[in-house]
Amino acid sequence: MLFQWPEHFVTVPLTAEDTHRRLGKTSAYMDWLQMLSGVVLIIFMWSHLFLVSSVIIGPSVMNFIAWFFEVTRLVYIIGPGIFLVFLLHFVLAARKMPWTTRQQTAMWANATRLHHQDTWLWLIQVGTAMVILIMGSAHMWVVLTDLPITAAKSAARIQSGTWLVFYLVLLPLVELHVGIGFYRIAVKWGFLSRARRQGFHLKESMLTIILIIIGLVTLARFMFLPLH
Ligand code: HEM
Repeated sequence: MLFQWPEHFVTVPLTAEDTHRRLGKTSAYMDWLQMLSGVVLIIFMWSHLFLVSSVIIGPSVMNFIAWFFEVTRLVYIIGPGIFLVFLLHFVLAARKMPWTTRQQTAMWANATRLHHQDTWLWLIQVGTAMVILIMGSAHMWVVLTDLPITAAKSAARIQSGTWLVFYLVLLPLVELHVGIGFYRIAVKWGFLSRARRQGFHLKESMLTIILIIIGLVTLARFMFLPLH
């Protein structure tokens, strides 16, 4: 017969992480760093969308912006810099993600039981983060190893078909992640009172939809840009 602990022998803590030691301020500093790296990425992604979408006005406008970033060497600083912030942001956020099946089951059970909008938003953040990590890294690698940026090169990539599908997946996921991230930073760091949450979330969702539309128009413009 198998030996079984009597039920009252099950002791707290049940998790290996709980050492009862004081955590100090490290965790709080890491939370700050996660938020700050998130803010940098949000500002970058908004600027990125407007810089790339300059092709809607005309390829010469996009080429001029790309030329400016090339001659000032800014692309060689901002490009790898953003790559590093992107990786740092993921590592910091990964501390909170449910990795094991046990954690994922518990998280899912809580989310379905609570019926709490912000809990679902957090789950969307975790899901989109995984895809963005892989696709964003591939995208940055391809663009940054093929400098200088020109409208013709971007158009050729997108007209190949594969990259069009790639961007059609990445674009909504990124905009969703950026939009929810913006809202969650405002809530978590106390910039938004409980009473203003719903209204802010609605405006943020509208902004996300507008940015996705601008991104789609940009892709369409690249798609129909004559290559010669
Ligand atoms: C590291 C600096 C980056 C540079 C220099 C850059 C540059 C570019 C360029 C030139 C395009 C036009 C398409 C092409 O050439 O293939 C593009 C499109 C795009 N990029 Fe980036 N990118 C950077 C970072 C990122 C990051 C971090 C993300 C998100 C994870 C991202 C998401 C996208 C998306 C979704 C598109 C589709 C275009 C659209 O908005 O319609 N990019 N990028």
